[in-house]
Amino acid sequence: EGAVEQGRDFTGETVLVTAGGTREAIDPVRFIGNRSSGRMGYAVAVAARRRGAKVVLISAPTGLPCPAGVEMEHVVTVEDMRAAVMARLNETTVVVMAAAVSDYRAKSVADQKMKREGAQAVSLELAGTVDILREVVGRRRDGTLVVGFAAETENAVANGRAKLERKGVDAVVVNDVSKDGIGFDSEQNAGSFLTKDGAVEFPVMSKTEMAERILDEVLKLRVGAAH
Ligand code: CTP
Ligand code: CA
Repeated sequence: EGAVEQGRDFTGETVLVTAGGTREAIDPVRFIGNRSSGRMGYAVAVAARRRGAKVVLISAPTGLPCPAGVEMEHVVTVEDMRAAVMARLNETTVVVMAAAVSDYRAKSVADQKMKREGAQAVSLELAGTVDILREVVGRRRDGTLVVGFAAETENAVANGRAKLERKGVDAVVVNDVSKDGIGFDSEQNAGSFLTKDGAVEFPVMSKTEMAERILDEVLKLRVGAAH
């Protein structure tokens, strides 16, 4: 059962995907961001659509074109993303949180552009952001499956498993982002799909292929669960 022969096995599902890296302003021209390309989330959106799902893609800035047949919402900050996700949660049956969401924002945003003059060393005070995924888990309807991602630079599987438990999600896709050529800002990915019952290893493959594999595992979670 290869990815291409699977047909429209997501018919009847509404899949909400978050993608890209959120941005938090420092001043009118600067922001705190991250290296997420958005490719993994977009690949999941495209695959879910092809497999018959209704797809809502909530995307931080990426530069990627809007996939055909997908309902797209553009967001920038964590708060924007949170609001967009919460507004669509009731109609969603599968949530895939592939976005790289900022953990910190500037405690205060400068009204005017910060100037070079006199700035030998500047320290920026940061505050934490809300954990959208946790809020999703707390507010989802019965039967809505929630898949988180975990980008790790060390102890990928152990950290991913800790996230699975801490966040109460149905599954975590763990990526080791410490290696060049896979994960962040790359066409390829590798990692594992963790659930409370075990782990499925994903060897190095394209993000397009991994998206299909993730959806295959999501469907397995559906089996036996009331829907
Ligand atoms: N996430 C989120 N809201 C945040 C931070 C993360 O919804 N403010 C989501 C991400 O989209 C991802 C999952 O939580 O699906 C895990 O993100 P990750 O950064 O790996 O985990 P954190 O809980 O932020 O922990 P840390 O960065 O400290 O490892
Ligand atoms: Ca984080």
